[in-house]
Amino acid sequence: MEFPFDIHKVLVEKITMLGPNLRPARRPFSASRVDFQHQITMIVDEIGKASAKAQHLTAPITSASRLQGSDHRLYILKDCSAKNAGKGTVIGFLKVGYKKLFVLDHHGAHNEVEPLCVLDFYVHEALQRHGHGKELFQYMLQQEHLHPSQLAVDRPSEKLLSFLRKHYSLRSTIPQVNNFVVFEGFFQGRNASA
Ligand code: ACO
Repeated sequence: MEFPFDIHKVLVEKITMLGPNLRPARRPFSASRVDFQHQITMIVDEIGKASAKAQHLTAPITSASRLQGSDHRLYILKDCSAKNAGKGTVIGFLKVGYKKLFVLDHHGAHNEVEPLCVLDFYVHEALQRHGHGKELFQYMLQQEHLHPSQLAVDRPSEKLLSFLRKHYSLRSTIPQVNNFVVFEGFFQGRNASA
């Protein structure tokens, strides 16, 4: 995804984490504060729209204003390859956040839990199946200090289910009554209240 400004001057690191204040840990010294906030907002809004389009959603579930009103975290991957050295491009993003959920276990009991949830995940169409999704996901797991089986996923697409099966051997064996999916191992070591 291209933008009318230099991505490398806004997103300094290969993967940038953004929270509700829309401020990355490393900010370029050169950018004025107003330009910087405007450009970050534009990036988040545009990648959110692209993801919604890819998932055939009626409206984006990721935008700068939604991020500001949440405790979600957005991981954005930019292209650092030499062929994209010019203004740079954004490859994709992953959004996660903690949510209180009732999750059914193997005995059919409802458990109140608050897992980290995968809420939105998108890699540009032309760049899917090149390992970029795995790079983003791995980085997120490291930052959040979690094992993939500890996550819940909000309405996973077939592509995402295939991704989780392939890279993390995650299989969903307990049908849930909400839109969230959990995987084998979710309840291991978890203090759930029935
Ligand atoms: N068809 C089926 N499986 C796919 C596809 C596809 N078109 N693309 C990726 N995958 C899965 C497969 O398991 C694939 O392995 P394979 O090529 O051996 O079959 C694996 O992902 C590839 O792994 P990566 O290259 O690391 O993943 P990628 O960079 O493609 O990112 C992602 C995965 C984010 C799911 C990407 O395919 C995408 O953006 N899809 C469209 C949007 C989407 O469905 N997002 C998830 C919505 S649900 C949610 O966010 C909670």
